[in-house]
Amino acid sequence: MDYLEITGGKRLGGSIAIDGAKNAALPLLAATILFKNPVTIDNLPNVNDIFTMLKLLENLGARFAIVGDRAKIDASSIDRTIAKYDIVRKMRASILTLGPLLTRFGHCEVSLPGGCAIGQRPIDLHLKALEMMGAEILIEQGYVVARAPQGLKGATIVFDKITVTGTENIVMAAALAHGRTRILNAAKEPEVVQLCEVLREGGVSIEGIGSDELLIEGTGGEMLKVDHITVIPDRIEAGTYLCAGAITNSKITLTRVNHSHMVAVILKLQEMGFDFDIEKDAITIKPASKIRPVKIYTAEYPGFPTDMQAQFMALALTAEGTSTIEERLFENRFMHVSELIRMGARITLNQNTAGVEGDANLKGADVMATDLRASSALVLAGLIAEGTTRVHRIYHLDRGYVKLEEKLRTLGADIKRLKE
Ligand code: EPZ
Repeated sequence: MDYLEITGGKRLGGSIAIDGAKNAALPLLAATILFKNPVTIDNLPNVNDIFTMLKLLENLGARFAIVGDRAKIDASSIDRTIAKYDIVRKMRASILTLGPLLTRFGHCEVSLPGGCAIGQRPIDLHLKALEMMGAEILIEQGYVVARAPQGLKGATIVFDKITVTGTENIVMAAALAHGRTRILNAAKEPEVVQLCEVLREGGVSIEGIGSDELLIEGTGGEMLKVDHITVIPDRIEAGTYLCAGAITNSKITLTRVNHSHMVAVILKLQEMGFDFDIEKDAITIKPASKIRPVKIYTAEYPGFPTDMQAQFMALALTAEGTSTIEERLFENRFMHVSELIRMGARITLNQNTAGVEGDANLKGADVMATDLRASSALVLAGLIAEGTTRVHRIYHLDRGYVKLEEKLRTLGADIKRLKE
C-alpha cells in the first residue's frame, strides 16, 4: 500500500488547475443508462471512484473508451440489470444506478451499499420515493430488488431529509417515468444542477433546477439523446487547495474553478482573515496578517459543505484562538480528530461539535487516513507540522483527488508517495 511522506514548514506558491467534480461525474455516468446514443464526457477526473463506476457500467453491458479526461460511453448496449456486491461495496455511489436501471428496464437488483467510516448512510429515502412512483422494492440477501413492470409513474415526493444522491436517483427515475414527478425538499448542490441540465438537454422537461422544488415531465420510456458533457469543476478539491494555501499562509492560484459554487467556503476563509483575487475561472488566495478563529456549522448547499469540515479543522489549528465546528449531516465524521491529536492538536469533542484550539504546535507523526476528506485534512496538517508526517492508507485519497501529491509538489510542498 502507498503512503505519503510530508516534511512540514514549506511556504507554497504558484498555480495549479482543478479537475472535474467526482460528485458530478458519478451521477452523470449513471445517467448514461438513460441515453440511446454514445456520449462524450470531458473533464472527467481520473480518480478511482470514476473507474469503479465505469467498471460497473461495463459489467452491465455498456461499452466505454477513455483517453485522459475524455470518456466515450455507449450504455445503449446494456443488457444486464444486476449491480453486483463486489463492485458496489467499493463505492456507495453505485446506488445511483438504481433509478436509471429501474426506469429503463422495469426491474433491477442493486447491492445495498452498506455504511462507511463517516456513518451508516442509509438509502431509505431513495427506496421510499421509488415506491411512491409505483416500484415494488424488496431487500433480498443484501440486494435491493426493484420491480416496476409497467414502468414508473410520476408522483409527488417530499424528502424527509435533503439527500444529494437521493435527489439524483429520483430525478433520473422520473426522467423516463410516465407522467409528472414533483420533488419537494430536493438537494440543490451544483452537481444536482448539472445532472438536471444534462437530462433537460437530453429531452426531459425539468423546471425549478437549482431550487428545492423540481418538476419533471417523464418521457414515458423514450430514451434520451445527449451527445456531449463537460463535467463542472470540483468545488471540494478547489476548497481543499485553498486550505493548503491558507494553512501555510501562502499565496497560491487555482485555475479552472467555478468560484460561484464556493461562496460559503470563500466567505469562511475571508472571515478568518484571508483575502482573494477572483477572476472568471481562477481564484488566488493571499496570506492573512492574523488568522482568526471561526464557527462552522455544516449544512446542505449553499451552506458550508460537510466535505470541507475536516480540512477546516486542520486549518483552525493555526488560528489565534479556539474555533468550533458542528457537523450536522453525518453522525461520525470526526475520524480525523484522533489522528490530528496524535500530531499535537488540542481538540475536544462534545457529541457532534468539536472545539479546536488554535496556535497548535504540530509535530510530524505516522497517521492513518480513514475516509476521503479526513485524509486530505491529515495532509494539510502535515504541511505545517514540524518534521515528517506519514499518511497511511491513502487509497482513501485516491478515490477523490487527482494527483494530490503532484499538485502540492508543484506548489512547493515537500511531499512524496512511497510504498509501505
Ligand atoms: C453525497 O453523499 C456526497 N457523495 C457526499 O460526498 C457528501 O458528503 C454528501 O452528499 C452530503 O453533501 C456523492 O455525491 C457521491 P446524502 P450522499 O444522501 O448523497 C441521510 C465525498 O466526500 N440520508 O445527502 O450519500 C444521510 O445518512 C462524499 O465526496 C438518510 O437518512 O449523502 C446523511 O446523514 C462523502 N436516508 C444525510 O441524509 C437516505 O436515504 C445526507 O446524506 C439518504 C440520506
